[in-house]
Amino acid sequence: MIAISNITKSFGRHQVLKGIDLSVSTGEVVAILGPSGSGKTTLLRCLNYLERPDNGSIAIGDFAVDCKRAGKKDILRLRRKSAMVFQQYNLFKHKTALENVMEGLLVVQKQPKEEAKARSIALLSKVGLGSKLDAYPSELSGGQQQRVGIARALALNPEVILFDEPTSALDPELVGEVLAVIRSIAKEGITMIIVTHEMGFAQDVASHVVFMDGGVIVEQGKPSELFRAPKEERTKQFLNRIRPELNYSI
Ligand SMILES: Nc1ncnc2c1ncn2[C@@H]1O[C@H](COP(=O)(O)OP(=O)(O)OP(=O)(O)O)[C@@H](O)[C@H]1O
Ligand SMILES: [Mg+2]
Repeated sequence: MIAISNITKSFGRHQVLKGIDLSVSTGEVVAILGPSGSGKTTLLRCLNYLERPDNGSIAIGDFAVDCKRAGKKDILRLRRKSAMVFQQYNLFKHKTALENVMEGLLVVQKQPKEEAKARSIALLSKVGLGSKLDAYPSELSGGQQQRVGIARALALNPEVILFDEPTSALDPELVGEVLAVIRSIAKEGITMIIVTHEMGFAQDVASHVVFMDGGVIVEQGKPSELFRAPKEERTKQFLNRIRPELNYSI
């Protein structure tokens, strides 16, 4: 269970998150949609404490922090409960696929090398990269690099995986392979929060959809509700822009 309560975040005088409340049950897949600049990435970064929220609280599993008061130890403990998959993969360029996945296990979890290696090989095989263990990022396609990114996130055994537009940097023909991997992980019951512009995917895979605009959650609900019968004007406008064929009346 993840409970986010009244998260605010400003950069200078610009308030980017204006009080976000969100609950995510264990095993749920939440898709976050919204126009550019609405604060989606900032929200994910706050959950992983890559950004420090100004106010509010975040609870993941059995651990909660009050963002105003959180000390270094709290932040570290919270951070270990989630893993992030980035739009631009963020792999170490001078490390192989295998070394990229092993890194977190060796450095963060202090696992013995052989154990870390075995687990990393298993995870890379699971994302279809069993034959690319020794390849460097420059020798992999975007889709393959992103699958390494997903294996790296899985390796940490997080309580939630945070995906920030995992397919938006990919050529269209590579999107499918990455979505297929995410879909198969979703079936295993791992809690996921996914920022995505892939509406069809969100509709299929997500159990809950959140629409953000201007630093607030405008509307949320089951995909069948939100896509079929959005209630808020701003949601309808957004969906009409990205899926004109649905033609919601405004
Ligand atoms: N480190 C930062 N310093 C200053 N402003 C920032 C910073 N990070 C984000 N912002 C601003 O916060 C707002 C929200 O940005 P954010 O990246 O969260 O949006 P987004 O919804 O992820 O957009 P996109 O769909 O384009 O990725 C933007 O106006 C952005 O310029
Ligand atoms: Mg973003």
